[in-house]
Amino acid sequence: MLMVSLPADCDEEGFRAAARQCLARNLPPEQIAFTDEQTGSLFDTLETNVPESGVQVHVPRRFLTLLSKVLCHRAPDRFSLLYRLLWRIRKGEHNVLNRIADADVQQAERYAKAVDKDVYRMHAYVRFSEREIDGARVFVAWHEPQHFILNRAASFFVDRFSNMDWLICTPIGTIAWRDQKLDFGPAEARPASAGDAVLDELWTAYYRTTFNPARLRVNAMTAQMPKRHWPTMPETAFIPEMVHQAQNRIKAMEERAPDARPRFADVLAERMRRAEPVVSHPDSFEAMRNEIHSCRECPLHGPATQAVSGEGPLDASVMFVGEQPGDQEDLSGRPFVGPAGQLFDRALAEIGIERKKTYVTNAVKHFKFEPRGKRRVHSKPSAGEVSACRFWLDREIRTVSPKLIVALGATAILGLTGRSMAVTKERGRILDLNGCSLLVTVHPSYLLRLPNPDAAEAEYQRFLQDLSLAKRWYEAA
Ligand code: URA
Ligand code: SF4
Repeated sequence: MLMVSLPADCDEEGFRAAARQCLARNLPPEQIAFTDEQTGSLFDTLETNVPESGVQVHVPRRFLTLLSKVLCHRAPDRFSLLYRLLWRIRKGEHNVLNRIADADVQQAERYAKAVDKDVYRMHAYVRFSEREIDGARVFVAWHEPQHFILNRAASFFVDRFSNMDWLICTPIGTIAWRDQKLDFGPAEARPASAGDAVLDELWTAYYRTTFNPARLRVNAMTAQMPKRHWPTMPETAFIPEMVHQAQNRIKAMEERAPDARPRFADVLAERMRRAEPVVSHPDSFEAMRNEIHSCRECPLHGPATQAVSGEGPLDASVMFVGEQPGDQEDLSGRPFVGPAGQLFDRALAEIGIERKKTYVTNAVKHFKFEPRGKRRVHSKPSAGEVSACRFWLDREIRTVSPKLIVALGATAILGLTGRSMAVTKERGRILDLNGCSLLVTVHPSYLLRLPNPDAAEAEYQRFLQDLSLAKRWYEAA
């Protein structure tokens, strides 16, 4: 048995160097014990003079993506898992990554996904406080990632906050942006209580004024925002108090019924108050598209040709959400291009909405179908599949940050809100979705399925009315 010791935050280059050495000796995975304690470098146990040319391994691109993510995972078995996959590829299993039932592949995909989620959480939950350090004003944040993700997460902050000096401290190291230069440093002790920070107050004030009691669902909130992160998010100090007050405030709102629906002007004023800086981020968007393409979170990726992610400008005012790609979308890789898409295009044109200025996506990114002879017949995604895919829809919404989201049909509603709602009950008025406006209408394919031409025409007219309301809303917002 050979001991190979790698640093806990070993990068791709380090791992590949080690793996090449092992492959050059034709060492099967069972004969290597990888450890991630820093108990000595690899070269204490391996000689370095192995000719590299003998160990060129051609790996699929997907393996490289997987490698870069899995390496960030904290699990002690990540190195041996990666080496096992590499070994199998080297021994002729070039398609091993396509074997979705394979235990190694599943484990690697799980690790990769956990790393993606951790990066995403870091982007969402880091809150900076202004401090004076060595006489200079800097913005400091404390965050506790679960995995070794600092490298993966850093560019997002550089792009977003390039014009200020900042420091993110974590138990596994620091990231600093100073004088337009990025630095990774050793771990810091946890900074003192955040209570004295100017930014905390600002952020807290912002959070309280945008708080809508009717939106409060504690379970949903804590699921999205793990309690682990609460201590560093000043606004969470107010959550218990707000939960307490929420019941009374909801009651007061209900007592104002039947005319309790917010007036347009009020909603508009509210939107202006909470106008959040919107950041469109082409790089991270591209990265997200690639991630969607390699997503295996639910079984739908198996039979489908490819994932179909959303399309449109990242500063679009309006986002349309459909159900899932159909046959033609699955083949072309673009949303809403088949029969339903053509009807959708026609309706948009009639209302004067330019499709190329809108962002169009689906609740579920892979085509679900049943084979019938040569045809592939659309099959409705299950609640579990919709729920699995919400992760991506949520990221698209955060990236585009539209003024209005239009849900086309019941699956879109489920994907957006996590709840089932009747389209007929909710359509025609603007709802609130975590601070974003939401309009519900039917799915264009529903219009195509109506057998009676008069009924179909009447429903199409109602669909146009909904689109017209959408246009007026987002143009005014
Ligand atoms: N139906 C949808 O919901 N989305 C598409 O992309 C095509 C048809
Ligand atoms: Fe992933 Fe969504 Fe495709 Fe399922 S449908 S594999 S969650 S992208």
